[in-house]
Amino acid sequence: MPQRIIGIMSGKGGVGKTVSSLNIGLALHQFGEDVVVIDADITASNLGLHLGMYNFPHGLQDVLTKDIDIEKALYIHHTGLRVIPASLDLSSLKADIKNLRKIISEIPADLVLIDSPPGINEEVIAVMSACREIMVITNPEIPTVTNAMKLSRVAEKQKRHLTGVVVNRYSNNPYELTIPEIEMMVESTIYGVVPEDPYVRESIYQKIPVVAYKPFSPAAIEFKKIAAKIIGKTYKLPRFYKIKSLLGLI
Ligand SMILES: Nc1ncnc2c1ncn2[C@@H]1O[C@H](COP(=O)(O)OP(=O)(O)OP(=O)(O)O)[C@@H](O)[C@H]1O
Ligand SMILES: [Mg+2]
Repeated sequence: MPQRIIGIMSGKGGVGKTVSSLNIGLALHQFGEDVVVIDADITASNLGLHLGMYNFPHGLQDVLTKDIDIEKALYIHHTGLRVIPASLDLSSLKADIKNLRKIISEIPADLVLIDSPPGINEEVIAVMSACREIMVITNPEIPTVTNAMKLSRVAEKQKRHLTGVVVNRYSNNPYELTIPEIEMMVESTIYGVVPEDPYVRESIYQKIPVVAYKPFSPAAIEFKKIAAKIIGKTYKLPRFYKIKSLLGLI
């Protein structure tokens, strides 16, 4: 039975939930944690695509509808990351995400990260009810942060613990909100800040999470820091990181 079930959520779509779920999940795996990442975005699933998984025998929807054993929908990516992807098949739209809550305790892992659908709707509330903790992902823009605020309030009302708000795609340009401004809006300190990093898009193209593809790229380092914080640790860069990275050794 999982000790921790963390929903990776956002009030607005396209902010980086899937990228964050995979990279935080992989970093946790690299730290030796027993982790599984699930794609709970069953209507617009794409977690598998980020890993180059197009055809697989069973997805989360099969577990939700056909009552198949959850282990049959569990796959190990070559990076070592364990995932339960959602099927891309249109017929899988019949699955009811409300049943996620019933099957979540059967996942063979200590720590489960749930890549959620976007928004604040019935589907998202159903996913939220399966989680014990919520991590909200936002971008540094007013509409996205406003929706992150709303989502955090919904999580509070649903009595879910807010692990924290993560700002993704931060590039510190004058047209973005600053971190103190975002903190004022969400009324909490920001849990982590992941920069805009071209290696993220390159890693998606290569179908390998950036934490494995470019382990010392700016985004990968921040994902590792967030993963360490989740388990109460501090991520430290390797000794002589700056010199080694200048020499192209890492
Ligand atoms: N830190 C980053 N740096 C650069 N690009 C990024 C970063 N994070 C995400 N992206 C880009 O944003 C896109 C959307 O990310 P992702 O699919 O993780 O968002 P999402 O919140 O899961 O979207 P949806 O709501 O549709 O599920 C990625 O395909 C990638 O191109
Ligand atoms: Mg997604």
